[in-house]
Amino acid sequence: MAQKSKILIIGATGYIGKFMVEGSVKSGHPTFALVRESGGSNPERLELIESFKSSGVALVYGDIYHHESLVKAIKQVDVVISTVGVQQMSDQAKIIAAIKEAGNIKRFLPSEFGVDVDHVNAVEPASSLFALKANFRRSIEAEGIPYTYIVSNAFVGYFLSNLGQMDASAPPRDKVVVLGDGNTKVTFVKEEDVATYTIKAVDDPRTLNKILYLRLPANIFSFHEIVSLWEKKIGKTLEKTYVLEDELLKKIQESSFPTNLILSICHSAFVKGDTTNFEIDASSGVEASEIYPDVKYTTVDEYLDQLV
Ligand SMILES: NC(=O)c1ccc[n+]([C@@H]2O[C@H](COP(=O)([O-])OP(=O)(O)OC[C@H]3O[C@@H](n4cnc5c(N)ncnc54)[C@H](OP(=O)(O)O)[C@@H]3O)[C@@H](O)[C@H]2O)c1
Repeated sequence: MAQKSKILIIGATGYIGKFMVEGSVKSGHPTFALVRESGGSNPERLELIESFKSSGVALVYGDIYHHESLVKAIKQVDVVISTVGVQQMSDQAKIIAAIKEAGNIKRFLPSEFGVDVDHVNAVEPASSLFALKANFRRSIEAEGIPYTYIVSNAFVGYFLSNLGQMDASAPPRDKVVVLGDGNTKVTFVKEEDVATYTIKAVDDPRTLNKILYLRLPANIFSFHEIVSLWEKKIGKTLEKTYVLEDELLKKIQESSFPTNLILSICHSAFVKGDTTNFEIDASSGVEASEIYPDVKYTTVDEYLDQLV
């Protein structure tokens, strides 16, 4: 059997990064986590780093703004997965420079994990974020770095843990605010499954220089369908109000970061349908559940069961 690639995760302590580390370890890949020495000492972060150590992850201290540390880290592995956050998005070019200098990387997975940024109908500020990611794709391609782009679509933890009710920490039991007209289809995915599919892709020739779409058939729902599924589970009908597109656009303009970013991403997904409104082009992309039918992903139905 071919040896499993050594994987470096840049952004390992972040929201999706920690799932990526866990997924990589679980799949038996030698796993390296780039950790910033200046990353702060909040107890959760330190605990996470301790948990990496105890699960056999090699900690590599470095920073994307410190070229030598990045090159040194990259030289130790075969695959680089970046899960840096939106604040670092414009500086991912630093990772390209380090990959070029190291010269040993078989696959690079940039920080994407959202919509297909080449197929979006977003407004500001999401449109600028998506444009940064799209431009970064062009730089990777121009440099001839082998890549896979993960189009995971909407994380359940972000969009379903409160049924899209921005300030709530749990799904509503009396009233729900529906974004858009409630009929646009959106694709959801559990964070652990994002990691499972991503790690499967790193050594897979079918995903080389391709987009891996997580358009999981059991997880495509409109807002109305999610609400009615939830209503069945709690045995109650919710009072619905709607934030239609014009009102949502106004709210985006009137709010500040990060609310405006979250709302504009919601506009792209729940109003414009950017997670579902195009066919996957077989020459540039593959769908995860089709090429990995053995993965038993968590369905939205199962996820909502846990919240009842
Ligand atoms: N589809 C969805 O629903 C969804 C939801 C959220 C995010 N996303 C996407 O997922 C990706 C990751 O976002 P996230 O929210 O998971 O990120 P995040 O939580 O903000 O994590 C950022 C990570 O980058 C690290 N980092 C920051 N500055 C760094 C530097 N100078 N050098 C090296 N590492 C540095 C941080 O480490 P420290 O601990 O040292 O600060 C942290 O590990 C983004 O592309 C985002 O757009 C998608």
